[in-house]
Amino acid sequence: MTRPQTAARAPLLDIRALHTHFETQRGTVRSVNGVSLHVGAGEIVGLVGESGCGKSVTSFSVMRLIPSPPGSIVGGEIIFEGEDLLKKSDAEMRAIRGRSISMIYQDPMTSLNPLRSIGVQIAESVALHEGVSQRQGMQRAVEMLQLVGIPLPAQRVNEYPHQLSGGMRQRVMIAMALACNPRLLIADEPTTALDVTIQAQILELLQRLKRERGMAIVLVTHDLGVVAETCERVVVMYAGRVVEEADVTSLFKHPLHPYTQGLLDSIPRMHEEQERLFVIEGEVPDPLDPPPGCRFASRCPHAMPLCREAEPALVEYAPGRKAACFIAGERFNTQASTS
Ligand SMILES: Nc1ncnc2c1ncn2[C@@H]1O[C@H](COP(=O)(O)OP(=O)(O)O)[C@@H](O)[C@H]1O
Ligand SMILES: [Mg+2]
Repeated sequence: MTRPQTAARAPLLDIRALHTHFETQRGTVRSVNGVSLHVGAGEIVGLVGESGCGKSVTSFSVMRLIPSPPGSIVGGEIIFEGEDLLKKSDAEMRAIRGRSISMIYQDPMTSLNPLRSIGVQIAESVALHEGVSQRQGMQRAVEMLQLVGIPLPAQRVNEYPHQLSGGMRQRVMIAMALACNPRLLIADEPTTALDVTIQAQILELLQRLKRERGMAIVLVTHDLGVVAETCERVVVMYAGRVVEEADVTSLFKHPLHPYTQGLLDSIPRMHEEQERLFVIEGEVPDPLDPPPGCRFASRCPHAMPLCREAEPALVEYAPGRKAACFIAGERFNTQASTS
């Protein structure tokens, strides 16, 4: 018997109305303000937005690694494989982290121990989660280094982080994250610190892992150029909220939110030496004291008086096609009639 096409499979990860705050001397920073997004098994989803929009706080919330105090997850649900991670004990989360969900960070040195060889570090993680011996763990480490394209893995496994180049370290961190074959990988700006060639190799590696291992990936980036090459679906965040969600093709062809349009217009073109033709004027509003209405209004070329008074809800215009903007409906209809 075949399953009816309409029976949508439950997503692997389903974040619902997440709120994560930090208590500071200046007041409560509402870094993540009602974020909902989902990731299907084996899917690569881009999470984009300028610096300070709440991408990392969202990612660390999923890992339950928000430093507390000052931070705390004050609302919402994070459903992973049908269970709410926010209801898990610390011990249960330790078993999930690294095994079912892994995260890689922008700066590999923050997660690599400078005093231990990379092989030992990978082996320890495998030994912890799978109860295998240190020797079997080392064997896995060599396999993982090979998988992520490190030459001479049997030799390299004995080296220390400082002996490796930035690109190699990033690969080691990916190898470590993947050693227990997680179903979900959260990659937080994994290529930001790397040069363009290495960046392309790492992105290609992520795509290969998705293809060969069916791993789901959340690719966090401020760069829509990276998304275009790698992701299937995109969630755009602005000032702690989701402002648009779409498949990659629709997002690039017909962005519905003026913020997304601004991000697209500011992608550096090839051969222009990274020179940007356009930047979105102004800054992300202070999360301590966000303005009333739409948070993008002060920077938006289309802002109307209403935008400064009322906050537009995230509306679904077609399956998987959402935007939080008062003119998104109009933009959606124009696109429907022109394509
Ligand atoms: N430990 C913290 N204490 C106070 N504010 C924080 C802390 N961590 C993050 N924030 C604030 O939360 C907001 C979102 O940050 P972040 O998720 O790191 O942005 P992104 O990853 O999109 O660049 C920012 O305004 C940042 O200053
Ligand atoms: Mg970040």
